[in-house]
Parts: sequence; C-alpha cells; structure tokens
Amino acid sequence: MLKLDNVSKTYKTGDKALHNVCLEVSAGQVVGLIGPSGAGKSTLIRCINRLVEPTQGSITLGSTDLTKLNRRDLRQARRRIGMIFQEYALVERLTVMENVLSGRLGYVPTWRSWFRKFSPEDIALAHSLLDNVGLADHYNKRADALSGGQRQRVGIARALEQNPELLLVDEPTASLDPKTSRQIMRLIRAACQERNLPAIINIHDVMLAQQFSDRIIGLRAGKVVFDGSPEALSDEVLTTIYGDEDWTQLRADATPTQNEATAVLDLAEGV
Ligand SMILES: Nc1ncnc2c1ncn2[C@@H]1O[C@H](COP(=O)(O)OP(=O)(O)O)[C@@H](O)[C@H]1O
Ligand SMILES: [Mg+2]
Repeated sequence: MLKLDNVSKTYKTGDKALHNVCLEVSAGQVVGLIGPSGAGKSTLIRCINRLVEPTQGSITLGSTDLTKLNRRDLRQARRRIGMIFQEYALVERLTVMENVLSGRLGYVPTWRSWFRKFSPEDIALAHSLLDNVGLADHYNKRADALSGGQRQRVGIARALEQNPELLLVDEPTASLDPKTSRQIMRLIRAACQERNLPAIINIHDVMLAQQFSDRIIGLRAGKVVFDGSPEALSDEVLTTIYGDEDWTQLRADATPTQNEATAVLDLAEGV
C-alpha cells in the first residue's frame, strides 16, 4: 500500500505546487490523477520517488517511509517503483530488448551490468513482456526505429521488467493519437490487474481517465478537490476541478474590483 500523509511541496521559486495532500492507494488500484495544467500532478508523482523532494509530509510504500531514506536506500526503494514517462525516456541507440532489460539494471551486480550481462530469467521475462505488449518481433530493433506507440509499449515493458510494487505514470498518452492512447491505457490497466499492481496515472484526458481507472483523484492548485469513482465525475465535479479560474476569481473579487473595472473602462473611453 502507498500512503501520502500531509505532503506539501514549495519549489525554491516560491511556487506552492502541493498543499497537504493525503491519500492512500491500495493493492491493484489504478488511480487516474486529473487536473488542469499546473495543478501539481507531475510534482505529486515525482515526490513519491523523490525525483522532487517534498517540503513536508511523509510517503510510505509498504513499511518504508520513502521521505526518510538516505541516497543508497532510496536507490533500492526506487527499484520497487516502476515509472512510465510521456516522452518514453528510452535510450535511442539501444535495442528494444536492451531498453527493456535496463529496467533490471538495479538488480544486477555492478560488475555484470558493465558487461550488460543478464540472467536467462531476466531475458525470458523481457521476451514475455515484449510479447504481452505486442512487440515480440521487434526486440532486436533500435529504439529510434519505432513509432511513438511502440516506444511507449517498450516503456511499459521496461517498467514491468523491474517487477515493481507500484507504477507511476506521467501523461503516458500526451504524445499519441487517440486510438493508440486507448491501446496504451488498456495495456497499462491490464498489466496492473494481472499483477494486482497499484498505479497512479497522470492524465489530462478526462474520458481516458474515466474509462481506464478504478478511482479518480482531482487536483486543483495543489489540493485534492475530488476523490471518488469514475462514475461520480459529474459536470459539477469537473467544474470544481477545471473551472475557469479567472472567472471564479473575478466573481470572488467582484465587489471590491467593480469600481476599478469601471474606472479602467472609463479611462479607455477617454471619459
Ligand atoms: N522545477 C520547478 N521549479 C519551480 N516550479 C515548478 C517546477 N516544476 C513545477 N513547478 C510549478 O509547480 C506547479 C505544479 O506543476 P506541475 O506539477 O508540473 O503540474 P502539472 O503536472 O499538473 O501540470 C506549477 O505552478 C509549476 O509552475
Ligand atoms: Mg505534468
């Protein structure tokens, strides 16, 4: 189980990206994390594996408090967390197989990883994962010879090659066409269901999130403003999450700014 307790993040620039986020994700649960651009979705995911250091709060995976780990223990803990990226983050000049096996590198003793030696079990797992994502025949191709959808399939296989306890996915379909996006979401969901693997998937597309998640978390300005089932995402809820910020701000300030607005208009008209 993953548990975030009171997690906040303020960047050095002063940007407050997360405010007291509390949430628990149980085994096998696929969570769609939605919210407008800048809501803090990527920050939240990155705080979990500490690519971004949270300013406050604790994050526990199983019995490990990830926020308290030193560098070496963090490296161990990151092996338990698979990550899938928007831009795939493959090594372009390596083959599909080598990219998938790189998911295993954390486990291989250093002297063997220098020679890129992997056990027959690692290689068999990679072949079976490539088969699962529909790339069995492409294992020997260079990554840079693949389409976007195929690259993301490699990204999925690489994350699963780690045999992770948790999957973190940041906008996996943002660079893909609608049909490929659905295929990729379907693959991620099936992989999680087969393994009882919990996942947090940042996704800007509400329809996709609704279709492929067990649970939706809506983030707005760094705060959880919705946490419920995909069916509960009504228009009203979506307005709460995405609602026109300028508009709500204008309304909240309507009385005090009314005179200023009139004054500006008057000036513009040369009155
Ligand atoms: N490295 C950074 N330094 C400073 N501010 C950042 C950084 N990354 C993100 N932010 C800010 O934090 C907020 C949340 O950003 P982000 O997590 O990327 O949101 P999302 O993924 O929902 O679009 C935004 O205001 C953004 O400008
Ligand atoms: Mg983002």
